[in-house]
Amino acid sequence: MCGIVGYLGPLNPKDVIMQGLKKLEYRGYDSAGLAILQDGNTKLVKATGKLQALEDRIKNETWTGHVGIGHTRWATHGVPSERNAHPHKVHGITLVHNGIIENYHEIKEGLLARGAQIASDTDSELVAHLVAEEFERVKDLKTAVERVLPKLVGAFSIVVLCEQSPNELIAFKDGPPLVVGLGKNENFVASDVQALIKYTQEFIYLNDREIVKLLADKVQLFSSHGVPIERKSVTLNWSPELTEKQGFAHFMLKEIHEQPRTVATAVQTHLCGDRVVLNRVGFLDKNYFEHRDSIDVEKDWENTQRILQGIERVFIIACGTSFYAGNIAKYFIEKIAQLPVEIDIASEFRYRDPVVPKNSLVMTISQSGETADTLAAIRLAKERGATTLSLCNVKNSSIDRFADGHLYMNAGPEIGVASTKAFTATIAMLNVFALGLGQIRKTLSPDEEKNFVMSLRSVPSKMEVVLSYDKYFLAAANSLKDFRGFLFMGRGTNFPIAMEGALKLKELAYLHAEGYAAGEMKHGPIALIDERMAVVMVAPRDSYFEKTVSNIEEVKARGGYIISLGSGDDHALKRISKMYLPIPSSDWLTNPILFVIPLQLMAYHLSSVLGYDVDQPRNLAKSVTVE
Ligand code: G6P
Repeated sequence: MCGIVGYLGPLNPKDVIMQGLKKLEYRGYDSAGLAILQDGNTKLVKATGKLQALEDRIKNETWTGHVGIGHTRWATHGVPSERNAHPHKVHGITLVHNGIIENYHEIKEGLLARGAQIASDTDSELVAHLVAEEFERVKDLKTAVERVLPKLVGAFSIVVLCEQSPNELIAFKDGPPLVVGLGKNENFVASDVQALIKYTQEFIYLNDREIVKLLADKVQLFSSHGVPIERKSVTLNWSPELTEKQGFAHFMLKEIHEQPRTVATAVQTHLCGDRVVLNRVGFLDKNYFEHRDSIDVEKDWENTQRILQGIERVFIIACGTSFYAGNIAKYFIEKIAQLPVEIDIASEFRYRDPVVPKNSLVMTISQSGETADTLAAIRLAKERGATTLSLCNVKNSSIDRFADGHLYMNAGPEIGVASTKAFTATIAMLNVFALGLGQIRKTLSPDEEKNFVMSLRSVPSKMEVVLSYDKYFLAAANSLKDFRGFLFMGRGTNFPIAMEGALKLKELAYLHAEGYAAGEMKHGPIALIDERMAVVMVAPRDSYFEKTVSNIEEVKARGGYIISLGSGDDHALKRISKMYLPIPSSDWLTNPILFVIPLQLMAYHLSSVLGYDVDQPRNLAKSVTVE
C-alpha cells in the first residue's frame, strides 16, 4: 500500500516521478504528492484524490532540478487529505513513507515534549521530525537515518530528500518493498520495478533493515549499523508495453483477456511430454537467486523429489483471491497425492499459535509476494520447522526470497487491483503441483497423469472460447444490475470459485454477495431466497452435478433468480435456470480455470454498468503491505 518513487539524474525529476507514480497508483490512490529540489529549495505539491488531481495541479510548473521524490497514498494514519498526503517536510528534510510506524504515540509524545510543531495526523511526518533532529546534530543524512532507524517500530519503507545535502537520496526499509533502479549517471528508487522499467532493467532489491545512499553516479548499500554491503544487481527482461493497457478500456479487461496465454506460460516449464516435472524449485539452494536462470535442472529435480517424498502434511496460506485459489488446491492435492491439506488465511495462521507437525510443507500463495500477513505467516512456519514453498508472481519479492522453495505464476505484471490472471495462473500451477506430488508419491498412475497433462495443454484454447462468449456475460451482468443481494454457490472445486465470484462482485461493483458451498444452502442461506435474490450456480458436469441441480430446483421453488454456468449445451440446466451460460467441457482439474472467467467478466461489466472505477475500486489496494 502506497507507492514511492525517487529520482536523481539529468532528466526532469517531475516527469520521471509522475511516470513512475502512474505505474504505482494500484498501490494506493487517495492522495498523491511530489517534492523536487530546485536551487536548494524544496518545491512541494500535494493533491487529494487520484494522481490526475496532482497532475492537473503541476501541469504548468516548469521546475528544473535533478532530484525529487513522489508518493501515491493509501491512508493508514489520518484521513485522505492534502495535509496528510506525502511528502512530509520538516525544516530541510522531506520524505515519503509506505507502511505503518507502530510506536507512533510514543514518538509523538517525545516530539511534542521537545517542542515540535506537528502539522498532519500521520505517523510519517513524525519520522521526518526525527530525521531533521538527527540531521541537525550530525549534519550527514545517512548517519541521521542510521540513528533514527532503531527508534522506529513497525513496517516501513522511506525515501528522504534533504535541502542541505542536495546531491543524494537516502532510502531505508523494514517490511514493505523498495527496489533501486540503476542507470547511467542517474539512479532511481521505487516500491516496485514497474515504476522504473521504462528507464532501466537493472535493479537491486533491498533487504529489511538496509539503508541505501543514492547519488546520480553511484549507489551504496549499508546495514542498519552503517556497514557497507556488496550486492549484485539483477537484470530483468520486461518490456515497458507489459504495463500498458494495449487498447483495452481497463487493465482488468486486458488481464482477463491475457489469461489463455498466461496459463500456458505458467505451466509450460513444468510439462515435459506426457509428464509433469516440478523442476527449478531451488529447495534450500542458498545461491538460488544468483543462478535461477541457469540452474542445473536434473539436480534440482532430484532434490525436489527427495524433499517432497518426506512430506506428510501440506499447509496452504494466503490472503484474498490467492486464498481462494489455495482452497481449490486442497481438493487437488488430497485427491491426487493423498496428503492431508490445511488451508489458512494468513492473518489467522500467524496469530493462532498453529501446530505445525514435523515433515510439514507450508506453501504460501501471493501474487505480489509482499502481503504483510502472508510474509509473517511464512516466517512463523519456518520458525516452527516447516519446509516452506512460495508460489508468487513477482520474482525476487520478499516472500519469494524468504521461502525455501520457489514456484512462479509467470503471469507478468498484474495492475488491475482485483486479481484475475494471477488467479488462473495460480490454479494452473496448483494443478501442476498436485500432479507432481502425486507422481512423486506414486498415487497417480502414468495414464492418469498423461490425461491430466493433455487437459492442461488444452485449457488455454478452451479459455479462448469462454472469452469469445463475452456477449452472454455482458447480458447476464445487465440482467443483474438491479439486484442488491447475490449468492454464488458451487460444490467441490466450484465452491472456492463461487467464493471468488462473490469477492469480485464485492470488490468491483460494491454489491453484497456471498459465496457458499451449495451443500450448506439449507443451513441458512435458503432463508434469504426470494425474487429479489440473484443466485449464480457454478455447475459443471462433474461428480457433484446431480446434487447441484437439486439445489437449483430448491432455489427455483422459492422464486430466486438463477443464473447457472454449466458444461456445454446442458439442457437440464437451461430448463431450470433464468439464464444459462455455457462453458466448454473439461475435467474437474481444469474446470475452475474456465468457470471463473465468466464470473470475472460479469463483475467487470456490472462495475462498468454501474459507473465505478474498475481498475481502482474504492478503499482497496493491490499490495497489502501493512496488516
Ligand atoms: C489485496 C488485493 C487482492 C489480492 C490480495 C492478496 O486484497 O486487492 O486482489 O488477492 O491482496 O494479495 P497477494 O499479492 O498476496 O496475492
